[in-house]
Amino acid sequence: MRLKDKVSVITGAGGGMGRVAALRFAAEGSRVVVADNQAAAAEETVRQVRAVGGEAVPVTVDISKEADVKAMIDMAIRKYGRLDVLYNNAGIMPEDDHSVLDTPVEVWDAVMAVNVRGVYLACKYAIPHMVERHSGSIINVSSFVALLGCSVPQDAYTASKGAVVALTRSLAVQFAPQGVRTNAILPGPVETPLLMDWLVKDEKAKQLRLARNPTGRFGKPDEVVSLALYLASDESAWTNGASLVIDGGISVNYF
Ligand SMILES: NC(=O)c1ccc[n+]([C@@H]2O[C@H](COP(=O)([O-])OP(=O)(O)OC[C@H]3O[C@@H](n4cnc5c(N)ncnc54)[C@H](O)[C@@H]3O)[C@@H](O)[C@H]2O)c1
Repeated sequence: MRLKDKVSVITGAGGGMGRVAALRFAAEGSRVVVADNQAAAAEETVRQVRAVGGEAVPVTVDISKEADVKAMIDMAIRKYGRLDVLYNNAGIMPEDDHSVLDTPVEVWDAVMAVNVRGVYLACKYAIPHMVERHSGSIINVSSFVALLGCSVPQDAYTASKGAVVALTRSLAVQFAPQGVRTNAILPGPVETPLLMDWLVKDEKAKQLRLARNPTGRFGKPDEVVSLALYLASDESAWTNGASLVIDGGISVNYF
């Protein structure tokens, strides 16, 4: 088992890639704190983990709220006594996030609050526990849009994911001497509710995205989670500060 005896906090684990991650981390021996702002969704993930013999506990948390995030980390320590992996996966991509010209300020702020402040807060409360044991892996989920401009813009989302990459590098440099590694995953379009709920209503946007991908398809949650498993495990002991792109080749496609 690749994560035997480890304790992982996975945010946004009530759905999409986070739920897949909770199931696969538990199957590899991790005890998993399933964090989501949708209580029923978190409970359902935990039910699925336990149904196959895994160990998990749900926690309802809005990762943009400091008191919630502190309570999430406190709960992980109280319940399992340690924290090995922080998987900052929760993120939002609202439909009314377009260009800077027409994105409302409230939408911009909401995206930043979840996608950037959420990562900051989780790191703020998790890192001291990791430093104490001189061991930990932080996995921050960014996106390939942090690297590329897009003629169908989502400027708040794009800026938020760029911030995640920059913060990842800073944490990697600060805390590796104290045993804590930090890396970012930059997925391309993946078949999860976050993307599919949106593309199902916009066939043109869907075809545009498929046409850009040399593999001719969207990614599958399992394919991204496989990379997260590597980062969570000791196999990646010397991987630190990396921005790992997993996008089927979109970001290297000129024509
Ligand atoms: N799906 C894609 O194509 C894609 C591509 C690149 C990056 N990403 C990133 O991957 C991550 C996971 O995306 P997904 O596609 O699985 O999304 P999803 O929408 O399917 O799942 C996200 C989960 O996060 C939870 N969540 C939302 N706001 C929250 C908050 N404030 N506090 C706690 N939980 C919250 C949701 O309830 C949901 O369970 C996100 O950070 C997303 O930006 C996704």
